[in-house]
Amino acid sequence: MAGLIPSVFIDDLLARVDVVDLIDSFIPLKKTGSNFVARCPFHTEKTPSFSVNRSKQFYHCFGCGVSGNAIGFLMDYSHLNFVEAVEDLAAFVGIEVPREAATIHSSGKQDLVALYDLQQQVAKFYAQQLREAENDGLAVKYFKDRGVSGAVARDFLLGYAPDQWHMLANQFDTELLKKIGMVIAKENGRVYDRFRGRVMFPIRDRRGRVIAFGGRVLGDEMPKYLNSPETPVFQKSNEVYGLYELLEKKGRPAQILLVEGYMDVIALAQFGIRYAVATLGTAPSRAHFDLLFRFTSEIVLCFDGDVAGLKAVWRAVESSLHCLKDGRHIKVMLLPEKEDPDSLIRSEGLDGFLARMTAAVPLSDYFFSRLAETLDLQTLEGRAALMVKAKSYLVTLPQGYFKEMMVAKLNEQVEHVAVDLAPEKSKRRPVAKEKVTPARTANALLLQNPSLAQCDFLKGGVDLALDSPGLNLLRKILLLLQEKPELTTGGLMENFRGQPEEIQVRALVQMPILVPESGLVLELSGAVGRLVDQVVEADLARLLKKERSEGLGPDEKKKMLDFLARK
Ligand code: UTP
Ligand code: MN
Repeated sequence: MAGLIPSVFIDDLLARVDVVDLIDSFIPLKKTGSNFVARCPFHTEKTPSFSVNRSKQFYHCFGCGVSGNAIGFLMDYSHLNFVEAVEDLAAFVGIEVPREAATIHSSGKQDLVALYDLQQQVAKFYAQQLREAENDGLAVKYFKDRGVSGAVARDFLLGYAPDQWHMLANQFDTELLKKIGMVIAKENGRVYDRFRGRVMFPIRDRRGRVIAFGGRVLGDEMPKYLNSPETPVFQKSNEVYGLYELLEKKGRPAQILLVEGYMDVIALAQFGIRYAVATLGTAPSRAHFDLLFRFTSEIVLCFDGDVAGLKAVWRAVESSLHCLKDGRHIKVMLLPEKEDPDSLIRSEGLDGFLARMTAAVPLSDYFFSRLAETLDLQTLEGRAALMVKAKSYLVTLPQGYFKEMMVAKLNEQVEHVAVDLAPEKSKRRPVAKEKVTPARTANALLLQNPSLAQCDFLKGGVDLALDSPGLNLLRKILLLLQEKPELTTGGLMENFRGQPEEIQVRALVQMPILVPESGLVLELSGAVGRLVDQVVEADLARLLKKERSEGLGPDEKKKMLDFLARK
């Protein structure tokens, strides 16, 4: 597993896969013309705007704007990181991923592997201890009393840390245990177990690797819950409890219920609600929402209805706004005071709980009613205050219909006072959005039709005396296609992954080009010609100006004359 994946392998891999077959194996595609289409798996829609192109080897959704190649699809659809996606894709075509010999850089990774490994072993050890006779069945009784079945305990790998000081230290490597925070070192260098006499909840990442633990006392002692400290493999504001277990049961749940406690997740699972996750004693963060919205389009916040709970909900709402793209929803489900999901589902049953969930309030309503609560909208002052407050939140929403509708709703609330939410900068100067320039056209044509690199007028390359961002990108693409003439659009995109031009390339790949096949060469040579002219023109203007002000060196003079001669 260690070692880097050679980059030639990735080009080969993409050349072997057909992105149409790959995507079709997840969502059935329909052929229309030269494209294959489906309803977009990344947002909710009634009519298909997700399109996959076989010759370009990439997909694009005209509805929500996602795009990518086969690797990108697996990363987004199956929630994988790059290496995982490459591994899956290789498995899809039935080949092995070669690894370059481990380098110095990968030694850090080796260490992490050891940490994951150890936590897995510790989790198994705790799970065994749950059933060990010498622990007097205390922990099993605890879970039984709370209604947890053996099946749920197994699914969540629940365990028990016996009430002893050196359980782990006697079993496992002490230095590694320190690194994952499972033992604490005393001044004399001796170590003792962090978790003693607690039922244990292993926290797993979305791939199922144990990355930390939570532990609860069996009685009323304090602190009630103890968590692993942050380690190289665990940052608590980036992780939620129960995500792996949820993904095991449902790949893409219609909704995810976000709750506060470990035992809430467990109790809900016990009642068949397998789509709940909990933050780890922290308020939901932006990272949490980014993570969860990769797996679902609806998140239901399920919090206490007490004062602290209401505060937590508002903080959660604030953290979620930035990722509320069209098609993503948040709902707020407030629980009666003194109840949590665990106690509620036990007292009201699954149906009662589901009924409450159905009645959860959409964020749009919750947002305005919470803001208005402290204001008197009968007065002009109150409405003005609402406007100021709401506006400061709404600007953080991503562009889209949802934002527009929230703005419309604000307008309604303040009785048709016009609100302009354009960012300050763009008010003065309209954004040069997707402007069609010769540089953009030339690069888009080439990216979308890599075979154009073979046409005669490009064979000699592009004038090296000239320098501009557009030309530099063009050269880079041509160079790539010289080395690897078979690259498709998707393959080209891959070669720009992690490069400074990545975002630009992504946009260009999707730029609409309304030119028939037969006109492509002409269009490209026209665009390159105009681009070169533009650069020459700009350079010449600069040189002429410099000549007048400070004079030119011999090289510059030569260049200027050369440019003048071209005209
Ligand atoms: P709660 O006190 O609401 O816990 O804390 P709970 O889940 O209802 O606990 P039970 O039902 O008594 O077992 C909610 C979450 O806050 C964190 C834990 O993540 C817990 O699940 N917490 C709470 C701590 O980290 N430490 C604590 O001492 C208490
Ligand atoms: Mn509880």
